Amino acid sequence: MKRLTSPGYNLTDFLYSIKPMNRVLYTILLSPFIFLSTIARETKAITLHLQSPGEKIHFSISLQQERISWKLLKQDSLLLEGMDPGFVLNANDSLYHYRLLSWDTASFRETWYPTYGTTASVSNHYCKLHLKLEDTERHLPLLLEFRLYDTGLAYRMRLDGSEREPVQIASELGQFQFTQAQTAHWCWADYHTLEKTYQHTPLDSAIHAAAPFTVEDSLGRCIALYEAALMDYPMVSWKKHTPESQSYRVELCAGADGFALKKSYPVQTPWRVVEVSDNAARLMESQLVLNLNAPAETRDWSWVKPIRYIGLWWEMHLGLSEWKSDAGRHGATTARVKQYIDFAAANGIEGVLIEGWNTGWEKWGKKDAFDFTTATTDLDIQEVVRYAREKGVEIIGHHETGGDVIAYEQRIDSAFAFYNRMGIRYVKTGYAGPVNPPTEPHHGQYMVNHFNRVMETAARYRIMLDVHESSIPSGLSRTWPNLMTFEAVRGMEWNAWSEGNSPDHACTLPFTRGLAGPMDYTPGVFDVLMTHRESERVTWNGKGRGQTAVHSTLVHQMALPVVLYSPMQMFADLPENYALHPEAFELMRTIPATWDDSRVLHAEIGKCIVVARRHGDDWFLAAIAAEEKKLMLHIPIYFFAKGEELNAVVCEDASDADAEKNPMAYIIRRGKVNPQSLINLNLIGGGGALYRFSPDKQPR
Ligand code: NOJ
Ligand code: CA
Repeated sequence: MKRLTSPGYNLTDFLYSIKPMNRVLYTILLSPFIFLSTIARETKAITLHLQSPGEKIHFSISLQQERISWKLLKQDSLLLEGMDPGFVLNANDSLYHYRLLSWDTASFRETWYPTYGTTASVSNHYCKLHLKLEDTERHLPLLLEFRLYDTGLAYRMRLDGSEREPVQIASELGQFQFTQAQTAHWCWADYHTLEKTYQHTPLDSAIHAAAPFTVEDSLGRCIALYEAALMDYPMVSWKKHTPESQSYRVELCAGADGFALKKSYPVQTPWRVVEVSDNAARLMESQLVLNLNAPAETRDWSWVKPIRYIGLWWEMHLGLSEWKSDAGRHGATTARVKQYIDFAAANGIEGVLIEGWNTGWEKWGKKDAFDFTTATTDLDIQEVVRYAREKGVEIIGHHETGGDVIAYEQRIDSAFAFYNRMGIRYVKTGYAGPVNPPTEPHHGQYMVNHFNRVMETAARYRIMLDVHESSIPSGLSRTWPNLMTFEAVRGMEWNAWSEGNSPDHACTLPFTRGLAGPMDYTPGVFDVLMTHRESERVTWNGKGRGQTAVHSTLVHQMALPVVLYSPMQMFADLPENYALHPEAFELMRTIPATWDDSRVLHAEIGKCIVVARRHGDDWFLAAIAAEEKKLMLHIPIYFFAKGEELNAVVCEDASDADAEKNPMAYIIRRGKVNPQSLINLNLIGGGGALYRFSPDKQPR
């Protein structure tokens, strides 16, 4: 690792000491990465330049008249400009004027091996620049850390002070000005939910965007803004600075008192991330959010294992049964759970989620409703767990809080201890409803701290988590591998009781929400028209029988578990609906929940994705499309797989398939291919394709 440090005194003094010449610019070759410093004595201006490790992008930062501005360039083209990182303390004490005390730079390179992921190893290679500053008003020290990757820039700030009392921060300052962006792929920022539809609009229309916020220029080059390592801090969004500008400012989710953050010094921001890529495919392959988080603590994490699961879930969302047990329609009875366990065991699916297993659902919306250790009278939890163990199936427990964080925090230890005693190692949590305390928004500092406390508590009890209605993931799973997956997205459930998700939604997610980390979208519904047992459906949340559908073909659903990565991956439909399509299910059920390699072969945001992922010797190629028109793509197998001859199993939409009118028409083929063979994809709007290539002698 190369390391350069500023001399014992500050850079300004150092440069002045070379020769007292007015307005002469000094050029100093400092390292392969940081190569130019300039100073104009009268203005006390300083500019530092940093080159990314592979010289793909270039960063320069200036301090002029006590204010910071920076630029990100690729070759000679300016990608993004930023300015005025800082804070507003108390009501209006703005802090963005600085004096430079010292700086240092270094490069860093490592390869690390995640417990689960889209690739078996991750390369983490960046140059860093640390500026030690002092704000000129209050003389508070501020550390500004930059990391420059070939694929982007990240910075974070640490503000220190001597006060013991918690400091109140009204907002974080920082502006980002796009220079070439044309199209924004974005959803409205909302301090209570991330379950939103995406828009594809001219940048001008993106007024206040949730992170990750992705923009694209006319050549398909992308820039995404988001955050990493979110701890003891509110969630970020990006707000247009002035209506006519292309400039966005950091916007924090504030509580009812108007303050975003209350905390004792030091105040450390998450990483503010600017990811750049030449095209959407490379953006989807990104692992930057993980790289910006600290490695896992040294302790035994061998109990953390990715899992595929089915569950007592979709039938409640469809209105075929209910979570609560007092209305004669309870889903999670001992007998019904055992049917799911039998189906999972017979099909090599490792887990079964049980929602509605505990008491409290009948008091929905009331405070202190849920009991996390008492099963309903018609569910023998001991027996169900015993039965699952006998069949080699994991039970995934459920903590729905209804947003009542106060009550949950009082019971959290007993709740996890109960599961731990029962041998339940996976838990899905949920926060459907307004937060209690009511002054706290879903995405504020209070909730971020709560989510992180749950993560640490679960780790103590060796429990892996799937968090619904969470704040945005920020890569903390690198540090806490038991933090497996998150919802934080408008997922499948919306298809059961609303107008649903249009096919462009799934074709957008990997380039927006997906940049923040794994997603429990709960894919794989085969009964896309919801006709099976339709007469039994009871409307409970908006739309119901005859009004809802999954707006895609069945094959598109089969492709989603490959496209939308999650180390806890659900196959969402009912066992009996899968049983109606044994061959298709036979193929989908072999999709793993973790990967050794991933290559995005074709990507158009909101329109089409083709991705190949490898697990062991098997390659899965999945394609989804949203476009109305037919899309024809020819992809040689040697783009990803090597070897002589491969067994292929293919599931494609039939020639008469249609996402709305005839979505369940598909064909399955088996055969042998070699790496020179071409995959010919004929994709319809809302359609897809799923291929498995394996070197086995016998097709499975
Ligand atoms: C919302 C969650 O996203 C969903 O998965 C769950 O079934 C319901 N809340 C009930 O807990
Ligand atoms: Ca939800």
